[in-house]
Amino acid sequence: MTAPATTEDRTDVETDHVALLMDGMKNTETATERAAKNTMLTPRFYTTDFKAMDALDVSPVRAEWDRMMAEYEGDNNQDHFKRDAAFGEELKVLMPQLSPELRQEFMDFLISSCTSEFSGCILYNEIRKNVSNPDIKQLMAYMARDESRHAGFINQSLKDFNLGIDLGSLKRVKAYTYFKPKYIFYATYLSEKIGYARYITIFRQLERHPDKRFHPIFRWFERWCNDEFRHGESFALIMRAQPHLLSGVNKLWIRFFILAVYATMYVRDHTRPMLHEAMGFKSTEYDYEVFRITSEICRQVFPVEVDIDHPSFRACLDQLLQISLANDRAVARGGLVGRLQRGWYAAKAFVTFGRLYLVPVKEQELPKDIRLSPVW
Ligand SMILES: [Fe+2]
Ligand SMILES: [Fe+2]
Repeated sequence: MTAPATTEDRTDVETDHVALLMDGMKNTETATERAAKNTMLTPRFYTTDFKAMDALDVSPVRAEWDRMMAEYEGDNNQDHFKRDAAFGEELKVLMPQLSPELRQEFMDFLISSCTSEFSGCILYNEIRKNVSNPDIKQLMAYMARDESRHAGFINQSLKDFNLGIDLGSLKRVKAYTYFKPKYIFYATYLSEKIGYARYITIFRQLERHPDKRFHPIFRWFERWCNDEFRHGESFALIMRAQPHLLSGVNKLWIRFFILAVYATMYVRDHTRPMLHEAMGFKSTEYDYEVFRITSEICRQVFPVEVDIDHPSFRACLDQLLQISLANDRAVARGGLVGRLQRGWYAAKAFVTFGRLYLVPVKEQELPKDIRLSPVW
């Protein structure tokens, strides 16, 4: 595990900011309670059909698989998730400069990132425990190892504010969503690759504008996102080893998952405008850069690509955002009127997502070489 900042560092940061952060937590709910909530926009925990996972056969991609497993075994990020000496110093200087609104959004970002890292850790670990297929068991062990480092590293930054998530209790109390293996592959592949694209986009931006790096954790993102990239590669190989998952009616499912993941990210990110502004981005600009990178990467495995520059794609995402904001106002209003309004917005969101689904997609041949390198 990573070493904590010195007591002195922590005390400085805590006394100045904990009260502020706690004020910002709605209804004084704890970070664990917040992470345990399931809404359309929060990261979920998943479970799946372990028998079907056990029956996976990666022999059609054996050469690429073995190369990838050697990379996992090499574990080039083994020493990465430890704080360096400058971390605490930077915290002391940077944290007092943050506005309360930015602190709140940053905390939300840390809680949802930690939940999402931990979600991967739990899923991979459960698969590992429940299969005997040596390829899948070994892969899941490596990925759970990585995700547990990631979740632990973020949680340490939450602990600086006394807001650490109790991961053990989160594992027990949070509801699990069951997905058939093929949906796990589509959704997890996308979330790993989008995770890579999000972290690298932030890292590159702050590399260009170091004055906008308002927390030392962002310095870790470059090597970190290479883990996510490799996790995505693993699912790409699993899917390419089963070509029926990438053709016929499954193309409709792939289209659905890409759009659902993109739309969720777009709406969620626009609830954190200050966070992106502090990094010198507009949320829309950041999201489209992430979509662009993710779409480029996905050509290794998905035979369809959504047209992120299509005017209707953009219009539908903006409408979904407006509906979500109006729904938040209805939730705050409460009562019968609030409930009726929420029903209306749910119907509107359904119709808008349907229109988004009908935006034409680009079809493409899959490349012969499956593996990609994280070159963005
Ligand atoms: Fe991760
Ligand atoms: Fe990952």
